[in-house]
Amino acid sequence: MKQRTLLLIKPDAVEARHVGEIISIIQHHGFEICQVKVFRFDPDLCSIFYKDHLGKDFYPRLESFMCKGKTWALVLEMDDAVQRLRDLLGDVVPEKRKPGTIRAVFGHGITDNGAHGSDSLQSAEREIGVIFGSYPQ
Ligand code: CMP
Repeated sequence: MKQRTLLLIKPDAVEARHVGEIISIIQHHGFEICQVKVFRFDPDLCSIFYKDHLGKDFYPRLESFMCKGKTWALVLEMDDAVQRLRDLLGDVVPEKRKPGTIRAVFGHGITDNGAHGSDSLQSAEREIGVIFGSYPQ
């Protein structure tokens, strides 16, 4: 079944000029790009987007990393898009990343991991609303 999911290309990958390569991989794997937005997180938007992580020990590092530069957000569509994007991104934990996954190639640590993908259909709908404006903030 066709699904929509959200990809964020994070400030580390944007600053290192990997946006083009990441989009090329996404397209090569059959995702359709439906919407694109380039923006910069501020602490308020970060706390809304990452509401499930607020209060965790790593949250301050995550906030300062996400607010440090530009992010590209892409709404992607294909069959089983949520799981397929997560498979293509690879694990959050560096040691668990399969070779060739986007985070293995373009990410570094656990926080500066290059990219984000929604973890469920429900999260995708919420996150797309937060970034593209139809979610009540
Ligand atoms: P992301 O997929 O954007 O979802 C939450 C983000 O928090 C994650 O990628 C990382 O950038 C960051 N993060 C930092 N430390 C952790 C951790 N211990 N567990 C999960 N996410 C973490």
